[in-house]
Amino acid sequence: MANVPQLVFNNGHTCPVIGLGTWNSQPGEVTQAVKDAIDAGYRHLDCAHIYGNEKEVGLALKEKFAEGVIKRKDIFITSKLWCTHHRPDLVEGALRTTLSDLGLDYIDLYLIHWPQAFKEGGELLPYDSQGKLIPSPVDYVDTWKAMEKVVDLGLTKSIGLSNFNKKQIDRVMEIARIKPASLQIEVHPYLNHEKLIDYARSLGITVTAYSPLGSPDRPGPKPGYSHLLEDPLLKTIGEKYNKSPAQILIRYAIDRGLIVIPKSVTKSRIIQNFNVFDFQLTAEDIKTIGSLECNGRLCSLGDINQPFYPFNDEF
Ligand SMILES: NC(=O)c1ccc[n+]([C@@H]2O[C@H](COP(=O)([O-])OP(=O)(O)OC[C@H]3O[C@@H](n4cnc5c(N)ncnc54)[C@H](OP(=O)(O)O)[C@@H]3O)[C@@H](O)[C@H]2O)c1
Repeated sequence: MANVPQLVFNNGHTCPVIGLGTWNSQPGEVTQAVKDAIDAGYRHLDCAHIYGNEKEVGLALKEKFAEGVIKRKDIFITSKLWCTHHRPDLVEGALRTTLSDLGLDYIDLYLIHWPQAFKEGGELLPYDSQGKLIPSPVDYVDTWKAMEKVVDLGLTKSIGLSNFNKKQIDRVMEIARIKPASLQIEVHPYLNHEKLIDYARSLGITVTAYSPLGSPDRPGPKPGYSHLLEDPLLKTIGEKYNKSPAQILIRYAIDRGLIVIPKSVTKSRIIQNFNVFDFQLTAEDIKTIGSLECNGRLCSLGDINQPFYPFNDEF
């Protein structure tokens, strides 16, 4: 796959260390963003059914395949099973919908997007009259068994988890015939997730860092905090290498041995974010950036009192 450095999964498949994020990339802008990313050298896309734009991502792929710029085997595609489809009999159909939207016969990695299941059969975000998401009793270990079946069917090469905590990963590991290949979690200097990363690694699970730039589309982690991309420390370290804070943040993930999936729909930023393979952070830089840790979680879902909410434990 092109010249992008790769990590090797526990099943022997490989994954480019940088991919383009597509959450919040609007239909109408995501097709062009994916085309720009492929032209810039990206060979990995991070998608999900809940992002509502997999058809538009598929249009870009179709065009790049037709132009002969890439073949299917040259690009790594991740998608995610949404919480209303955890019931084992719904998993294959959910993945087939994603495949049809993307215009593909298989994807490379399918993740359980969140450990919590929501009421099946209606809205993707089924709220009750109090504005709370309506849970479903499905246990993600039963979902995992159905995830293994879609590997057997050849619909995805690898399967993994997203937003699972240590205990939840352990429960999956206990029953898994096919071990999770990757864990996708929020990682950036305000939430550097050292313990969970070390734990996943000890099990042979690679880690993908989402919201690596601090997801500036969302409110900042704590009132009074400057936004991560404006953090003076990142600017100072960036000056040392003649790189932007975004490029320092992307290297912060890569140099910790992670896969990283920054999102942009802006061509110049898509190119800038990929232009990170001509420098490396030192161990000292990584330690200094790590000192920004403030448990600054940006992304959460559902009610903390509901079953399988992942963020009540220490990690
Ligand atoms: N598994 C999960 O539950 C989960 C949760 C969240 C995210 N994700 C995945 O991770 C991806 C990345 O996370 P994210 O979208 O939350 O946030 P992010 O990648 O940390 O930040 C994206 C934002 O940064 C801006 N940006 C990008 N490059 C920049 C640069 N060089 N300089 C300044 N600003 C820049 C983008 O603006 P423009 O687009 O306007 O350029 C966009 O507003 C998502 O797109 C999604 O694929 C997964």
